[in-house]
Amino acid sequence: MKSEFFKYQAQTTAFASGFEVEKAEGSYIYGKDGRAYLDFVAGVSANTLGHSHPKVIQAIKEQADKYLHVMVYGEYAQEKPVAVCKLLAEATPAPLEVTYLVNSGAEAIDGALKLAKRYTGREEIIAFKDAYHGNTHGALSVAGNEAHKREFRPLLPMVNFIEFNNREDFAQITEKTACVIVETIQGAAGFIMPEGDYFQQLKKRCEEVGALLILDEIQPGFGRTGKLFAFEHYGIVPDILVMGKGMGGGVPVGAFMSSKEIMSSLSHSPKLGHITTFGGNALIAASSYATISEVLESNLMAEALEKEKLFRSLLVDPKIKNINGKGLMLAVDLGTPEYCLQVAARCMEKGLIVFWQLYKNNYMRITPPLTISPEEIEKGCRIIIDTLNEI
Ligand SMILES: Cc1ncc(COP(=O)(O)O)c(C=O)c1O
Repeated sequence: MKSEFFKYQAQTTAFASGFEVEKAEGSYIYGKDGRAYLDFVAGVSANTLGHSHPKVIQAIKEQADKYLHVMVYGEYAQEKPVAVCKLLAEATPAPLEVTYLVNSGAEAIDGALKLAKRYTGREEIIAFKDAYHGNTHGALSVAGNEAHKREFRPLLPMVNFIEFNNREDFAQITEKTACVIVETIQGAAGFIMPEGDYFQQLKKRCEEVGALLILDEIQPGFGRTGKLFAFEHYGIVPDILVMGKGMGGGVPVGAFMSSKEIMSSLSHSPKLGHITTFGGNALIAASSYATISEVLESNLMAEALEKEKLFRSLLVDPKIKNINGKGLMLAVDLGTPEYCLQVAARCMEKGLIVFWQLYKNNYMRITPPLTISPEEIEKGCRIIIDTLNEI
């Protein structure tokens, strides 16, 4: 299979591992080599409840027995998509109320940008240096890493970039700004956290000039930082909330959420301001509903902060410079990209899956399922520390 993978399935790196997967369950992925691999990456923060969570699998099977796809987005009232949107409305503060379901995080970002331009009638966008929002042309236009975008220009015009945590840059947010788009925790840059009341001041500036604040919670969302959404730690509410990854329980999904008033601007002048065939698909929504309701009903959010403490107490070594992030969204600074890649490769040989951050390869990513047990955390951290001592 591996040779066919490299022959027929497109890769965009020269170093894909081609790891052959047999099955996955809980915190483990089982290889075709017969070995169990402890997963500290969780599909890059997507497997909130681990692999093949029984509630999620059951929900998918029940929906598959009824029907899969019946109509393009937003035409028919279907039980599971409606239930997901209602659950999100109940679990988030006002004025967040209505949700547009799409197929991926990047599509949700594109939808949010369109919504902000349409509602405000403005053209300028403020985005952040080192930001990552996905890989469609729209999402790439607001990404703050030149090396990843240079060859794909022209991208969206009128996007200006400011520095995360630098309040002097607020002056660039003006009456011409349609929206400010920002990750609640900067992911690809190494899980960089907002400092002090930075987000409150950012929101205040947006309000002063009538710009909408779009928060990208595609990675921290759904309990990973100890709250359903990370913005709840910072005493603000965005005008548009973007989510994806962990809301699906392992199926492809994204969404953007806003007030009824803002969202309704996509339904006229022109009508069908955003359309998608499969967004809000019943099968995906069944999986999402099972995932989100389990996160809300269980103790997983509170446990995420306890598990962070355990990780931080175990990952102590002179080769670890720093650990960024919050909850189960941790980036371990190993000094250089070369060393980090070497450590990740050796950990894999020893049965532990870790990864690195997209822009800052010196950071080792630790984003396990929220359901990971303390024993599994201890086992994985022991492998990391042994590896650091070894190489
Ligand atoms: C913060 C953030 N925004 C957007 C995206 C894009 O999501 P997707 O890969 O589902 O398009 C990602 C994916 O890694 C992300 O981490």
